[in-house]
Amino acid sequence: IAVDPFDLVVFGATGDLAYRKLLPALYQRHRDGQIPPVARIIGASRRPMSDEAYRDATEKALASHVPAAEREPETVKSFLERISYVAVDASADGAGWADLKATLDEGADRIRAFYLAVGPDLFGAICEGIGAHGLITEKTRVIIEKPIGKDLASARAVNDAIGRVFDERQIYRIDHYLGKETVQNLMALRFGNALFEPLWNAAHIDHVQITVAESLGVESRAGYYDTAGALRDMVQNHILQLLCLVAMEPPSHFDADAMRDEKLKVLRALLPITDDNLDQFTVRGQYRAGASQGGAVPGYLEELGRTDSTTETFVAIKAEIENWRWAGVPFYIRTGKRLATRVSEIVVSFKPIPHSIFDSSAGHLTQNQLVMRLQPDEAVRLSLMIKDPGPGGMRLRNVPLDMSFAQAFKVRSPDAYERLIMDVIRGNATLFMRRDEVEAAWTWIDPILGAWERTAVPPKAYTAGTWGPSAAIALIERDGRTWHEEVL
Ligand code: BG6
Repeated sequence: IAVDPFDLVVFGATGDLAYRKLLPALYQRHRDGQIPPVARIIGASRRPMSDEAYRDATEKALASHVPAAEREPETVKSFLERISYVAVDASADGAGWADLKATLDEGADRIRAFYLAVGPDLFGAICEGIGAHGLITEKTRVIIEKPIGKDLASARAVNDAIGRVFDERQIYRIDHYLGKETVQNLMALRFGNALFEPLWNAAHIDHVQITVAESLGVESRAGYYDTAGALRDMVQNHILQLLCLVAMEPPSHFDADAMRDEKLKVLRALLPITDDNLDQFTVRGQYRAGASQGGAVPGYLEELGRTDSTTETFVAIKAEIENWRWAGVPFYIRTGKRLATRVSEIVVSFKPIPHSIFDSSAGHLTQNQLVMRLQPDEAVRLSLMIKDPGPGGMRLRNVPLDMSFAQAFKVRSPDAYERLIMDVIRGNATLFMRRDEVEAAWTWIDPILGAWERTAVPPKAYTAGTWGPSAAIALIERDGRTWHEEVL
């Protein structure tokens, strides 16, 4: 369904995020006919550039990031016609704001969205510029990306700076994991079926695992990454959001505040990790040279070009949620760069059956597991025990009830940004983070960062291309459980 006419201004128009994700996502929605003819995409950044040059750059970006079969020349051409460019110096009295205003005035009654695809140090200045130059209308929204701060205090400062210009209801904080199909499917699965919710608690669930494993290293992002590390880069946002969606109480509606109220309660119920329980609950690692995808790869320090960094490229945490539903159910989370493969999944492990009626010849009875795979191939799989077909008596086998989306639906799986940008235009903030959520997440993360810093224990080394330091395996095996590993 087409959205209402809009103007989208992308600050940081010549940056990596714009070229790699935003323009391709907008192109796909244009191709699907969801963007009305008058809608405009206005690139903005400091660098002077003509409309023509920015269209050429956009065309190149599409060539690199959209499959050739989806780039019909006519469609690309009509997409490029929507695009223009304005050079803006972000400082409030900088050049270019008047030009931007003149351009936007031509569509004064449209929905207006500002996407700040820039570093967080520019959020405040750009918002100030937008406010000072009278660019905010009734239908204006602003979209920001992580990192929102590097700890609670700096996150508050970022939120304050944006909040001085925009109302909370106008601010869309993107966490692109919330736009992934499987993540939305988690909501469908939990709240669209009668089957799971009665079992979705400590009485029936043994534990939950959330893995976001990447095979790539930090590569060209080493500069940023070294100031962040895996805990800030992945756990504070993406992984805690996934954990919230698994653990939250059913909201009364699938709407922004109802959802966010429930997620917030989960964040506030997380057992604090402090100096005292740090070793019991966390493992941090850093990769050394090894092999990945069939080739030798350097270690993190070599990529960084320094020898003294203690930034973690891997983290595993045993998280606990202190409420009635989840008391005693650990949530094991892990994420890292240069791991054995690229896979992101949520695994819900149910408790064993209370008593087996079968004798030992039936074989080992494994626990039911619900595996939701976010990537590479989106799928939901429920493992069940069934009887081995044919003669041979009552032998039981673990078989997955499998729903691979690509096979089941035979449709292109949209990138997360497509859905999320269109949600902003529609004014639907359900899949975006509210200020209090971001700050509650930092409230849990800050003491972990502080404890790591105080104890000054360097991250444990792991070889690139493996599943992280052996301590991460011990973290879960200590509890008599193992990380879920599946042949993809
Ligand atoms: C980003 C992180 O938010 O998410 C990156 O900054 C990470 O370090 C990326 O690689 C992972 O996203 P995806 O969608 O490729 O799993």
